[in-house]
Amino acid sequence: MPAPSARLNRIPPYLFGEMARLKAQAIAEGRDLIDLGIGDPDQPSPESVIAALAEAARNPETHRYDESPAGWPPFLEAAARWYRRRFGVELDPGSELLLLIGSKEGLAHLAWAYIDPGDLALVPDPAYTVYKVNTLLAGGEIHTMPLRRESGFLPDLGEIPTEVARRAKLLYLNYPNNPTGAVAPLEFFAAVVAFAREHDIVVCHDAAYTEVYYDDYRPVSFLQTPGAREVGIEIHSASKTFNMTGWRVGWAAGNPEVLRILNRLKSNIDSKQFPAVDMAAAYALDTWTEDRPTLRLYRKRRDILVNGLRRLGFDVEPPKASFYVWLPVPAEMTASEFARLLLERAGVLVIPGIGYGECGEGYVRLSLTVAGDRDGERLAEAVERIGRALG
Ligand SMILES: Cc1ncc(COP(=O)(O)O)c(C=O)c1O
Repeated sequence: MPAPSARLNRIPPYLFGEMARLKAQAIAEGRDLIDLGIGDPDQPSPESVIAALAEAARNPETHRYDESPAGWPPFLEAAARWYRRRFGVELDPGSELLLLIGSKEGLAHLAWAYIDPGDLALVPDPAYTVYKVNTLLAGGEIHTMPLRRESGFLPDLGEIPTEVARRAKLLYLNYPNNPTGAVAPLEFFAAVVAFAREHDIVVCHDAAYTEVYYDDYRPVSFLQTPGAREVGIEIHSASKTFNMTGWRVGWAAGNPEVLRILNRLKSNIDSKQFPAVDMAAAYALDTWTEDRPTLRLYRKRRDILVNGLRRLGFDVEPPKASFYVWLPVPAEMTASEFARLLLERAGVLVIPGIGYGECGEGYVRLSLTVAGDRDGERLAEAVERIGRALG
C-alpha cells in the first residue's frame, strides 16, 4: 500500500488514548461508570423536530442534491429570522449566511480556505482541537493565545507580538467556551474587531454553545459588535441548541467575502446534507424558545455538581453558559493523574485539560451531559464517590 499523506503526521498525538483505554477496561470489568467525559447532549432531539423531518422526508423535492448556492434557502431564511429574534442582528440570507454540515465542518474548512504552508492562525489554548489541527494539516503554523483564569479565560490580545499579528490570517475564538465554560462580554469582541482591523485578520467566532445558558445570563453574538461583519464570521450549530448532534446542521454568518471563499472550497468537497434535515432544522429555529426543559435539567445538574465539589473543598466556578465545569485539580497532581485517580477510585470519567492544550494543565473538564441521569441523581452520586475517593 502507498504511504499516506505526510500531512497526517502533523496531527498531534491523541491525548485521550490512555483515558479511552481505562474507560474500556472499566466497562469490560462491569463497573458502574459515571461518564462526565463526552460533551454530547444526552436528551433526545425535540419530538416536533423529528415530526418535521418525517414530513420533509416524504417530500420528493428533498430526495435530490441541494443545488442552491449557499444552502437550502428556506433554512437560510429561518437562520436569518432566528438571528434577528435572538440577537437583534439583521442578516441577508442571500449573502451573509452559509449552510454547514455541522459547525465542525465549517471550522475545519475555513483553515483550508485561508491557510497555505507557512501561514499563521491565532488559536486559543485550551481549545476545541479542530482549529489547531486543521491549521496544521493545511501546512500552517499556530500561535497560541493562553486562556487564564485570572483573565476570565479571555485571550490577552496585547500579548500577541506585533510581527505575529501582522503575519496572522485567521483568529479563532469560542464563547461560551469549550472547555472552560467561560463567556465573553461585548467589550471583548469590540477589542477583537479593532485588533483584526489593525492587522487585517479574519475572525472566526465559534458560537456552538450560545444557547446553553443559565439563570439570567444570555450569551452575546460576535455579530452584535459594531464592525464585526467587516472582519469575520460566526459559526453556529443545531447540535447543542436542539440536542441534534447526529443531524449535522450548522451555519456560518457574517462577512460575505469570507463566506464566499469558504463556500468556494466547500462546493468542491461536499454536496450539502439531506435537505429534509435542513427543513427540520429550519422548523427548530422558527420554534426556538428561551425556556427549554434541557436547560432546566443542565442547571439542576450544574448546581448539584458545583455545590457538591465546593463542599469537598474545590475552588470551582459555576458556568454561566455551556455544559462544562472546568475544575482545578489538587496542587500535587497533574490533570491526567487526577483524571486517572477519579476513574480508578470513583468510577467517574473526566477529561484531563491537557487534552485541549498545554494551558489546560491543572484542570479537568466535567460535562453535564450525563447519559442515564434523570434528575441530577448521577451527579449527586459522582460527587459522593469523588468525596469518598479523595477522603
Ligand atoms: C467548541 C465546539 N465547537 C464546535 C463543535 C462541533 O459541533 P457540531 O459539528 O456538532 O456542530 C463542538 C463539539 O463538541 C465544540 O465543542
